[in-house]
Amino acid sequence: MKKIFLKLSKQPITNSYLTNLNKKNLEKEFFYNLNVSFDTKLFLVSLSKPINPKKQYTNKYAHRASESKTMKAAFKNICQIFKKRFNPKKILEIGSNDGVFLSNFSKKDIIAVEPCKNLASITNKIGYKTYSNFWNIKNAKKIIKQNSKFDLIFSANTISHIPNLEEAFKSIYISLNTDGIFVFEDPYIGSVLKMNSYDQFYDEHVHLFSLLSIKKILEKYKLKIFDVELLTTHGGSIRFYVCKDKSKIKISPNVNILYLKEIRLGLNKFQTYKSFSSRVKKSKKKLLTLLKKLNKNKKKIISYGATYKSTTIFNYCNIDNKLIDYVSDTTKNKQGKFTPGKHLPIYPQSKNISKDVDYAFLGAWNFLDEIKKKEKSFLSRGGKFITHVPKVRVISK
Ligand code: TYD
Repeated sequence: MKKIFLKLSKQPITNSYLTNLNKKNLEKEFFYNLNVSFDTKLFLVSLSKPINPKKQYTNKYAHRASESKTMKAAFKNICQIFKKRFNPKKILEIGSNDGVFLSNFSKKDIIAVEPCKNLASITNKIGYKTYSNFWNIKNAKKIIKQNSKFDLIFSANTISHIPNLEEAFKSIYISLNTDGIFVFEDPYIGSVLKMNSYDQFYDEHVHLFSLLSIKKILEKYKLKIFDVELLTTHGGSIRFYVCKDKSKIKISPNVNILYLKEIRLGLNKFQTYKSFSSRVKKSKKKLLTLLKKLNKNKKKIISYGATYKSTTIFNYCNIDNKLIDYVSDTTKNKQGKFTPGKHLPIYPQSKNISKDVDYAFLGAWNFLDEIKKKEKSFLSRGGKFITHVPKVRVISK
């Protein structure tokens, strides 16, 4: 049974940055109720009513994974580990974005599937064969027919975006060699609960996985987890190592250790999520109190990083141009546009935060270390960051 535990108000599609605020654009802006449920049988946390992926993964998709130094380095590192640990000959990536992962492999060893046409064309252009398709059984059959089955399938921040997990995992099963390995990573519900990062809920994050939930689900599709890791990327992610259930691969002790930890933390209990929901309400109140106080004291506040996560915050907390002047972002195709729902203007991120800014809300709080290094002069001249994780607070030098 699916039970709602969190209501995050009306939300727009996070990737739908507006090019201008004319009447036509404002009238056709799409909103939905962002409610989050817990499945008491599968222990799975999901959006109650996911959006149709065809509305989300269009040829205007804005996010570029290689914009972040942290992610570039993380992918480079994991590719080296994969080469050593599994020595894969045939690799498939699901959701390749702008090629930040696959560019670490030779063009003859890896192919990709990526539904956003604008992104698929980036990697096709540099010579990596990329199917501009959604990941489903029909397309998986086409890909293996035209290529072969795979030794390694990798997917980062994509499986959690797919509403129909049955279709996703069945497609994995048919695409893997007998001893093939499937590795996927996505934001971790355990980190969301710990960090109070309710902004991990938005239209694209259809599910927030735990080990408990994935273990139960994979069993239905003749797959099993043989290793698991918790990662710091994206504000706390989980990486699953999966093989076919008949595989002789040794199961790492990490699996049982995390399993027991999740039971201890109550990730299988509805009450755990209900308590989280009350903490979210308190966080909203505190953030608004802080921003309103600073605003009254004539402080200039901007937001740093036009993230999808901050769309959830701005719309849930009702933060608009009255409280935050603008959002700065390094991504070229977000610049000059307006944030979904609350319509804050997005400006390029100049080398340093402009001199007249007193506070910068961290839309990209998951890159705090990278940002602090970049913005040393902002901090040393008395500038401060604001974040809501793990609690609402001001960060100074
Ligand atoms: P991301 O971490 O993928 O968050 P989400 O999935 O919530 O969108 O995106 C980070 C965004 O922040 C991206 O648009 C680039 C931007 N950014 C900056 O503008 N400056 C920075 O220094 C960093 C690290 C990120």
